Amino acid sequence: MNILITGGAGFIGSHVVRLFVNKYPSYKIINLDKLTYAGNLENLKDIEDRENYKFVKADICDFDAMCRLMKDEAIDGIIHLAAESHVDRSIKDPFTFARTNVMGTLSLLQAAKLYWESLPERYEGKRFYHISTDEVYGALELTHPKGIEPPFSTTASSSQHHLAYGDTFFYEDTKYQPHSPYSASKASSDHFVRAYHDTYGMPTIVTNCSNNYGPYQFPEKLIPLFINNIRHRKPLPVYGKGENVRDWLYVEDHARAIDLIFHKGKVAETYNIGGFNEWKNIDIIKVLIKTVDRVLGRGEFEDLGLITYVTDRAGHDMRYAIDSTKLQKELGWEPSLQFEEGIEKTVRWYLDNQKWMDNVTSGDYQNYYSSMYDNR
Ligand code: NAD
Ligand code: TYD
Repeated sequence: MNILITGGAGFIGSHVVRLFVNKYPSYKIINLDKLTYAGNLENLKDIEDRENYKFVKADICDFDAMCRLMKDEAIDGIIHLAAESHVDRSIKDPFTFARTNVMGTLSLLQAAKLYWESLPERYEGKRFYHISTDEVYGALELTHPKGIEPPFSTTASSSQHHLAYGDTFFYEDTKYQPHSPYSASKASSDHFVRAYHDTYGMPTIVTNCSNNYGPYQFPEKLIPLFINNIRHRKPLPVYGKGENVRDWLYVEDHARAIDLIFHKGKVAETYNIGGFNEWKNIDIIKVLIKTVDRVLGRGEFEDLGLITYVTDRAGHDMRYAIDSTKLQKELGWEPSLQFEEGIEKTVRWYLDNQKWMDNVTSGDYQNYYSSMYDNR
């Protein structure tokens, strides 16, 4: 199988590429990435010389390039992660989000359609797997501000924290109600993917996952940004009151779900991915302070004073909470890590990989890798 993974130099994509390259030596894995500010080939240093791996620098919006690539590499399956992914950036620059997330996805869909329809077997054995987010469903209400036991039994390993902050969850058939330009662009791309199944019979799958955390996440997102700020004793800008709730999943558990769904998921289905792991931002921030201070040998909660409440994000969604029962029951997936373990691993990874962080924050990674591939 020749598999195209888009956005493989980004946070989640790099974990998916690593998993596939290591687990499937007989597949050829083509990582296509534009190397925007969020793409960093340093994330894949450990597998870059593998025989079953190839990197291609390209923009998914470049339709001719996508058509050539589908044919030249005889692509059988696509796992599409390339996107603009940060809500705050989408508020400042929505056009870039519409371009990459909507037009880029459409360009990839059409290139896949033209190539696969030109083959004698057409769509037989082919798959277009689109990675989306829970943010397309909009925002849930925070009806239990102190949290309650969730009304379903979570898997034993899934959560120690085990609280729900509302009575409702995002299900696969929850109505799309995106609020941010980011989630609106992802929602639009999801609709295009489903339309290609319904109109042309393309074997598509869409998954909607909750917030991911773990190594190699760009430090504009809450968890890596705050770990780095605590380390350097910089202020921690908490939006609003810090009461917003997010549902967190360790990135390698998302990558395992993607592997399972790519191989075993039913065509035209949607699967929600999440670990039943809701946290208020302010509580997570306290866990981060406690963990970083302990690992660095500082006094307990020595850095609590870094918390700085700032103006809220425009249109800030109050609560996200995924119900992933379908994935757990139908395909037997479950998260492997408890949150406390995942946070410990994550904090230690960022503290142990200060050079990675310094390269990213200084912008050095871009100069090095971009010029390397531009010259090819
Ligand atoms: P990321 O921003 O870390 O990485 C995105 C990657 O896409 C980068 O490597 C970037 O260079 C590449 N890219 C951007 N525009 C491109 C273009 N026009 N052509 C080719 N490549 C391009 O994002 P992430 O957090 O790893 O998210 C990956 C996917 O998963 C996205 O589709 C996102 O919507 C989805 N998702 C993310 C989360 C999360 O918590 N991070 C949760 C659910 C779903
Ligand atoms: P983020 O990591 O940007 O993910 P998303 O917006 O996709 O959920 O933010 C996670 C939560 O943390 C979100 O409620 C916004 C909040 N937040 C802050 O309070 N301060 C910050 O500096 C950032 C980046 C996020």
